[in-house]
Amino acid sequence: MKKRNILVTGGLGYIGSHTCVELIKSGYEVSIIDNLVNSERFILDRIEKISGEKINFYEIDIKDLDETRSCFKNKNFDLVIHFAALKSVNESVIFPDRYYRNNIGSLENILKCIESEDVGGLVFSSSCTVYGQPDILPVTESSPLKKAESPYAETKQICEKIIKEFSTINTKPSISLRYFNPVGAHESGLIGELPRGVPDNLVPFITQTAIGKRDKLKVFGDDYNTKDGTPIRDYIHVVDLAEAHVSAVDRLINDETKDNYEFYNVGTGTGYSVLEVIKSFERINKIKLSYEIVGRREGDIESIYSDNKLSSKTLNWRAIRDLDQMMKSAWIWEKKFNESDS
Ligand code: NAD
Ligand code: WQD
Repeated sequence: MKKRNILVTGGLGYIGSHTCVELIKSGYEVSIIDNLVNSERFILDRIEKISGEKINFYEIDIKDLDETRSCFKNKNFDLVIHFAALKSVNESVIFPDRYYRNNIGSLENILKCIESEDVGGLVFSSSCTVYGQPDILPVTESSPLKKAESPYAETKQICEKIIKEFSTINTKPSISLRYFNPVGAHESGLIGELPRGVPDNLVPFITQTAIGKRDKLKVFGDDYNTKDGTPIRDYIHVVDLAEAHVSAVDRLINDETKDNYEFYNVGTGTGYSVLEVIKSFERINKIKLSYEIVGRREGDIESIYSDNKLSSKTLNWRAIRDLDQMMKSAWIWEKKFNESDS
């Protein structure tokens, strides 16, 4: 039987690259569009090396509708997974226009191509930021979406609304996955998170401190109302997250969706504090990390973690990798990346 062809936008990025590997492992053909705004071309070779398959790669900026449409022509993509977006919360506050244009504009172009080229459906990268600071934990899919706390979060809320409308009108089924905090890397150490400049996120900051690129990790606040005073997040291994995408793709391909628009939390269901993450990193990798407690970071919420019952049941998926595995793989990736100096 002919393999189903999945177009992965942003497929050279952090989550996209891991998802391409898992899709190929599950028997899908993969094509990638990426404009390399936050990724490197060598990641393509690495995905091909891990999976042993050749990938169709198109270097296109999805904001350009004509180029994007020409890429869809005659390819008969069965589905699109749309990862391509800018993702820095801080940067979105400084350059909101860039975020609205890139994240919402790209989605609109992808939907136009799905419609005109008769592609079967869409899986969309959403985020737990759509919930803001929830009143009740864990957050379920029916928790209210609070006013967005950044232009980035607003783009995710708007994109979900656009997709819901589109799927209903065009009867093209779509699934949004609301990721919690993806961390870790592929076990090969060949692909992982590649932050440009000083990382905003906790885990790349930890690994860059451990390797000596940063002097000290700053822990932003230990005066929160949590178990040890530091904020709680639901960290999920990026390979578990990638597997959730394969499950969502299977659901669409097998015509199993109950509604034209479905949305799911993708987290482990367990919250860990910043100090617990640091301790896990130190223990599993036998490293003493240099860190200090400083003041709170503006805009940080106290605690968030998922109720993942719906995704586990409906997508027939489970997060199986624990915090130690996340920290171990993140460190292998950092070391290997610095050895190869790619
Ligand atoms: P990433 O930056 O590593 O990957 C995104 C990829 O999209 C990059 O390779 C980039 O070059 C590409 N891209 C961006 N704009 C493009 C455009 N206009 N045309 C073509 N390519 C474009 O980010 P990631 O961490 O892999 O995130 C993937 C998706 O998941 C994003 O939509 C992000 O908002 C969402 N998300 C990420 C997290 C996280 O913590 N990493 C959490 C929740 C949701
Ligand atoms: C985690 C915890 C920090 C860095 C962001 C986005 C969110 C989503 C995931 C896309 C917090 C603390 C961090 C550091 C620290 N992305 N921290 N020192 O803020 O939960 O979520 O990434 O959708 O939208 O906002 O993740 O990794 O930045 O922070 O103490 O140097 O680590 O205060 O408690 P966050 P993060």
